Amino acid sequence: MSSPATPPLPLREDLEGLEPYGAPQLDVPVRLNVNENPYPPSDAVVADIARAVEEAARGLNRYPDRDAPELRAALADYLAVESGVRVDPSLVWAANGSNEVMVQLLQAFGGPGRTVVGFAPTYSMYHEYARDTNTRWVQGQRGDRFALDLDEVERVLRAERPSVVLLASPNNPTGTSLEAPDLRRVLDLARDLGPQVAGTRRAAVVVVDEAYGEFRREGVPSALELLAGNPHLVVSRTMSKAFGMAGLRLGYLATAREIVDALMLVRLPYHLSATTQATALAALRHREELMAQIAGLRGERDRLAAWLRGRGLEVADSDANFVLFGTFADRRAVFHALLDRGVLIRVVGPEGWLRVSVGTPEEMEAFRVALDDVAARQSGGAL
Ligand SMILES: Cc1ncc(COP(=O)(O)O)c(C=O)c1O
Repeated sequence: MSSPATPPLPLREDLEGLEPYGAPQLDVPVRLNVNENPYPPSDAVVADIARAVEEAARGLNRYPDRDAPELRAALADYLAVESGVRVDPSLVWAANGSNEVMVQLLQAFGGPGRTVVGFAPTYSMYHEYARDTNTRWVQGQRGDRFALDLDEVERVLRAERPSVVLLASPNNPTGTSLEAPDLRRVLDLARDLGPQVAGTRRAAVVVVDEAYGEFRREGVPSALELLAGNPHLVVSRTMSKAFGMAGLRLGYLATAREIVDALMLVRLPYHLSATTQATALAALRHREELMAQIAGLRGERDRLAAWLRGRGLEVADSDANFVLFGTFADRRAVFHALLDRGVLIRVVGPEGWLRVSVGTPEEMEAFRVALDDVAARQSGGAL
């Protein structure tokens, strides 16, 4: 007997015809496309994680510790060492990657009838967080050299009265950091230019996404320094980048009590598995070893930027573990020519620009050789 014809399923209209987001995961020798840390964890770290996961496995019949206090305390300790700012562990919040942290923020502060703003070029997932939480996404423009244009910020905030302002610093894909006085000004504007809710004026929540914070250059402050006195500020971090734990999926934030309380309302119960918590805690015990790679990666980044400039290319100032460079009449042709030579980078950012992540010295050498070869085959060496 044939089953009756099933009508189409009720997919949300705004999702119809869309493709899932995701950078290509290609098996090529040199992968420099998603800003990972190129160094796998050492044997000592792997052994400690294995022990911790084994221990956690003995209790897997039980739900995990719902509020992850031990992990949040370890993250607070890490932030104090990394940035000099001590945050109470109860004001640190963790989830499965900073992607989940930010979706939770929009679940709590966005939603139908509300607006989240960002300033392009910026991280392409932001508009997806907005879409998935039914929050309106409005994008202003960055100014010269991809810096925030404060007149533009004021114009957009006055016009839109957003609930949330999302700013990545260092920004992806440009690598540029927010200047501290600029962030102070944004925080002042956000205090006054948030939405009306139930007839009362509210502050906009300002999220500074410091996914690449640890790579910032000497003297560039973290937004963590501005938490005191700004209860509408959230600073988001991740273990995916400098910490070399992208596969773990652990993001976190530091903020004020009212914001953590709001996140507790929307998080799914037991959202952080026992094995995730155990792995993150074990990795954090090795923070000195993991952090030791950062200086080397920063040096490699600066050498890469100088080399690209030496080739006559434009390079955005980078405080991150990647570099945005250009400009090319046909950036896709350059991307594919590099891929043909076994080097995967990313077509992202404004037209004409490409982004390359910082890898090991050997990977960077392979990138330089490949790019020189591409140049040599195009119009007599000019890129
Ligand atoms: C600016 C920015 N924020 C957040 C993320 C997401 O990081 P996570 O792995 O913690 O979800 C990325 C990842 O590339 C990013 O570039």
